[in-house]
Amino acid sequence: MKFFVDTADTDAIRELNELGMVDGVTTNPSLIMKSGRDIKEVTKEICNMIPGPVSAETVATDAEGMIAEGLELKKIADNIAVKVPLTWAGLKACKVLSDQGHMVNVTLCFSANQALLAAKAGATFISPFIGRLDDLNLDGMDLIADIREIYDNYGFETNILAASIRSVNHMSEAAKIGADVATAPPDVIKKMAQHPLTDKGLDAFLKDWASTGQSIL
Ligand code: E4P
Repeated sequence: MKFFVDTADTDAIRELNELGMVDGVTTNPSLIMKSGRDIKEVTKEICNMIPGPVSAETVATDAEGMIAEGLELKKIADNIAVKVPLTWAGLKACKVLSDQGHMVNVTLCFSANQALLAAKAGATFISPFIGRLDDLNLDGMDLIADIREIYDNYGFETNILAASIRSVNHMSEAAKIGADVATAPPDVIKKMAQHPLTDKGLDAFLKDWASTGQSIL
C-alpha cells in the first residue's frame, strides 16, 4: 500500500519523506487554509520535495470552472493530480482532464456507486472518506471493501485512495482490504510505530544492559 500524507505542512512532509514514508501528498482547501500559505506557493514547494502525485483541489462547482482551475493547478508541476469533488460536474471535469492525460483524484466519495462512476470517468484515484462515514456510525471500511470488490470484478485501473483516515487501525484495515493508497495525517503515520510492549521491552533491555557495565562503542 502506498502512503500519501494528508497535509500542506511542508515540515511534516519533509520529516516523513526523510524516512521514505511519502509516496505522494493530498491537500484540500481546508488543509491549505490550515497552512496559512498561498496554494500555488505551498503546492510548488511540496511538488519540488515529493516526486509522487500531489493532489491539489479545485473549488469551482461547475465543470468548466473545475477544468480551468485544474489546468491552472497543473502548471505548478507535472506531478499534480487535480482533485475534483464527486458531483456530476466533477465527473465531467474528470473525464475531460483524464482524456487529456492528466491525473485526476475524485474526492468526497461516500458510496460504491459514486466510486463506480468515477472509474468510468477515468479517475486516476478515488478518495472514499472513511473517517467521515465512521463519524455517522457507519463503517467506512465496508466502503473500501465494496469498492475493491467492484473494481476487481471489472479490472478498473482507478486507484483506491483511502482518505479521511483518523487512526492507526484505519491504516492496517485499509492495507488488509487492499486499498492501493492510504492518505493519512502525519501524526497517524508516526503513531503506527508505537507499541507499549516495544517501549516496555526496550526499558528492560536498557536496564539489563546498564547492569553489565559494557559499552558497544
Ligand atoms: C483526502 O484527500 C482528504 O483531504 C482528507 O483525507 C479528509 O480528511 P478529514 O475527513 O479528516 O478532513
